[in-house]
This record gives sequence, C-alpha cells and structure tokens, in this order.
Amino acid sequence: MKKFYITTPIYYVNDEPHIGHAYTTILADVLSRYHREAGDEVFFLTGTDEHGQKVSQAASERGVEPKKHCDEMVVRFQNMWKKLHIENDHFIRTTDKDHQEVVKEILQQIYDSGDIYFDEYTGLYCVGCERFYTEKELVDEKCPQHQKSLKEIKETNYFFRMSKYQQQLIDYINEHPEFILPKTRRNEVLGFLRQPLGDLCISRPKSRLSWGIELPFDSDYVTYVWFDALLNYVSGIGAKKNDKQFAKWWPADYHLIGKDILTTHCVYWPTMLFAAGIPQPRTIFAHGWWLSDEFKMSKSLGNVVKPLDLIDRYGVDPVRYFLMRDMVLGQDSNFSPDGFALRYNSDLANDLGNLVGRISTLVRRHFDGKIPEPGEQSREETQLVESGSTLAVEAIELIHEMKMNDAVETVMEYVRSINRYMEKLMPWKLIKSDKAAAGTVLYHAAESLRISLQLLHPIMPVRTAKILGMIGASVTELKSPWGQLKSGSKLSEFEVPFPRIELNQKTKQAKE
Ligand code: MSP
Repeated sequence: MKKFYITTPIYYVNDEPHIGHAYTTILADVLSRYHREAGDEVFFLTGTDEHGQKVSQAASERGVEPKKHCDEMVVRFQNMWKKLHIENDHFIRTTDKDHQEVVKEILQQIYDSGDIYFDEYTGLYCVGCERFYTEKELVDEKCPQHQKSLKEIKETNYFFRMSKYQQQLIDYINEHPEFILPKTRRNEVLGFLRQPLGDLCISRPKSRLSWGIELPFDSDYVTYVWFDALLNYVSGIGAKKNDKQFAKWWPADYHLIGKDILTTHCVYWPTMLFAAGIPQPRTIFAHGWWLSDEFKMSKSLGNVVKPLDLIDRYGVDPVRYFLMRDMVLGQDSNFSPDGFALRYNSDLANDLGNLVGRISTLVRRHFDGKIPEPGEQSREETQLVESGSTLAVEAIELIHEMKMNDAVETVMEYVRSINRYMEKLMPWKLIKSDKAAAGTVLYHAAESLRISLQLLHPIMPVRTAKILGMIGASVTELKSPWGQLKSGSKLSEFEVPFPRIELNQKTKQAKE
C-alpha cells in the first residue's frame, strides 16, 4: 500500500473563507480521494495560521483576547470545510500546544547548531504579508501584494543563516525536477536564487508584538509567523513527538500552495529543513489565482466570491466540479457567475443529467425499473467497452501529472460519447421492434455511465453516489472493471440530478 501525504497552506484565521481558500482545499481533498479510492493510505492536513500582528490587531479592535478571537474565527473555516465535503485527516492550529512545542524544539535545535544569531536590523515591513521586503522586491515603492507603502522598522532581532544554504538549495532544485512544479515556478525560484540570498529575520520583540510563540532561548522575543506556520507541515504529523507517525508520512508528497507564497515555501521552508536535518518534501505545487474581473480575489480588494452564496444556490458538488474543471493547474482563471452557469448547464445539466434521465426513464418504463440483460455486442458496444476500460488509466495518469481539468474533460468526453451512442441506436425506438436489443443498449449505456460516475466521485462525492443509485449501482473502487453493473439490480428513485440554471433568472440574480 502506498502512502500519500498532502497539505494545504494554513489559512490566516482572520480571513473569511473565500473561493481562493476553498479552491486549494477542494483540490487537496479531490487528490486525497483519488488516492484513497485507488487504495493508497492518505493523510490530508489543513488548518489555520493564528499568530502575528494582523490577528492581534483584529482581536484588540474587537476587545477580546487573541486566543479567544482565534477560537471564534477558526469555526468559519472548520464549518466551511464540512459544508464543502472536505475530508481532512487533521486540522492544525498554530495555537495548538503540540505545534508550539515542536516549533520551540526546532528553533532550539537550529540555535544550538549555530544557524541562528542576534543582530540589529532595519527593514521595510508589510503587516499584510507579515514579512520584511527588500527595496528590490517593491513595485513602485509599494508592497507587490498589497500595493501599500511600507514602514521602515529598526530593531535588534534573531536571524536564521539562510544564506548559508543558498547553493545547497540551488543544487537540490536542479537535481530534483519534481521538487517545485509547475516548471515556470521552478524557474522563477531559480531566478530569485541567482541574487545573493540574505539571512532571515525570525523574531519579533515582544515590545512590538506579543502574540506569537516565545523563543526558547530569549523570552523577550516571539517567533516570526512564517517560521512558526511552515513548521505545521511537520508538527501536524507528529515531528519530535511521535517518531513512528512522522516516519510513516514524511516527506510530504504535495505541499499545495498558491503562487503568492512561492518564496516562503520554496526558499525559506527548504532552507529551514536543511538546517533542521529534515528531508525535503517531494513536490511543492503552486497553482494560480482565481481572479474576479481579472483581479486576484482578496479581502483587501473587496472582490471575493463567497463559496456559501454559490453552494446555497447550486449545491456543493457543482461548485467543486466547476473549480476542478475550469482551472488549468498553474495558470490563473477568471471566475464569473456566467462562466459558472454555462459550464454547469452544458456539462452537468445537459451531458450528465440528461443521460441519467434518459436511462432511468426507459428502464423504468420498459424493464420494470431493473437493469436489463446485456445481449450480444455490436461494433458500437465494443467501442464503448474498449474506451470505458482504459478511461480510468487515462484519467488517473492525467491526475498524477496534475492536469485535473484534462482528466475531468476526458471523462466528460466519454460521457458525451455515451450520449452519441444513445442517439445513434435510439433505444426508445428500438424498444418497439426488439426489446432485447434495446435492453442491450440500455445496459451498455448504464454501465459506461457507472464507470464515468465512479471517476467523478472524488470530485462530486455526494451527487455521484446518488446518481449511481439511480442506475442500480453503488460506489466501488476507482478502477472498477467493465461489467460490474448487475442485470436485474433495481434503480432507486429518480430525481433530476442537476436542475438547469435559468440564465435569465440567473442574470437577474447576479444584478441584484
Ligand atoms: N497563512 C499563510 C500561509 C501559511 S502556510 C505555512 C497564507 N494564508 S492565506 O489565507 O492568505 O492564503 C493561503 C492560500 O489561499 C494561498 O496561497 C492560496 O493557496 C489560497 N488563495 C488565497 N486567495 C486566492 C485566490 N484568489 N485564488 C486562488 N487561491 C488563493 O498565505
């Protein structure tokens, strides 16, 4: 049995979950489910980033203690993931006692080995990013993420000797082509590493910020949020606490991240791991952004799409489907209500929904609601069986290459071929002259549909399970061979699986 360990970034607890956060988490969930359903042992970790200036500011504005503030805020993420059918194995919070202890232990270890030193520092600090910027990194003298002017801060602090690991990191990236993906991001990181790498300021004086993990070697300071947050990937699976569990899951197979946090994950994190003597993750995969009117969705820009609005209107599974189908992994995608409605209507309501409806109606009307016998196969059936038998292999290969949208499209193209098969053989006409032949067509259509639904199950776990019942089948393993659908099995109650979105009404709603 293979193991598969996947992580999402841990989200700032202050933020209200939006489609951007939901996307990374759904992607991790879908990949986890594909691995689980293929028989792998999976650990899927997500959680929240709860220390730092932004959180302490927000808490004091509300007049509550930071921890209380976090306890109240974290529920929004936890509830959202439940709603979105996310099946994570653990939810880590950086305020968890275990996590804090691991951070301290690793800091102490790196300090003892001489890779942390004390020095004076002047730098430009962005509260939004919780990090210092060099002048070179600014765009129009402003933070490139938040387009805000930065404050110069001078203070004595602790520094991590990141520069010492620059060459080792370059060599590692060059020797491991799968370490940073997609390739464009790998080149971006290598480009960044062509400049001399500075050391990393990893502390904040308590006089300025007390909401953080205290340095084990100086109680006047707390740890810089990123040094704290990145370590969740090892503390979440028992580093320094449960050696057996840690050895089982580490190294991570995928750290999924958005391209906005490339440097922290592909430069800070690997050098921290070098210093701590921990092996590198297998792949850090950076996806693009969901844009709204061509701008990145973010709270500060006020252009976020709230997942709840969509879920309430169209259901969870269609939202999961859309996000997986419409983003080419690695590139940006624009989110629009019209784009959503068009995709939903064409793929789900038409291609998939109509096929289920047709099969179910005919089987009910002419075969007493039971799957008919498959008679002898004609050329059409042989073709359907052949492509159905290789579909899982093709789709899974695309998923392993992180081409999720192509994998979905491959399955949907097969669904369209089932529709064409029905159109060509017209079982609704055939039934009048040759009931057995019509039964053969319906069996093959239903079995092909079952295979397709099984492959879409990790993306739409609830709706596909329901539809499988409507054609007399149930959820099985991912690569289920042809012929699992049993003749005589009874169809469950039919219900339109994906009611069409009325475009006029939708446009009206969008305007409101
Ligand atoms: N707390 C840090 C991460 C620490 S990980 C050790 C952080 N949090 S965040 O809440 O701001 O965002 C985290 C992630 O949310 C992004 O990297 C990305 O995965 C996702 N997204 C946030 N906005 C997004 C879009 N508009 N589009 C797609 N994903 C984006 O950074």
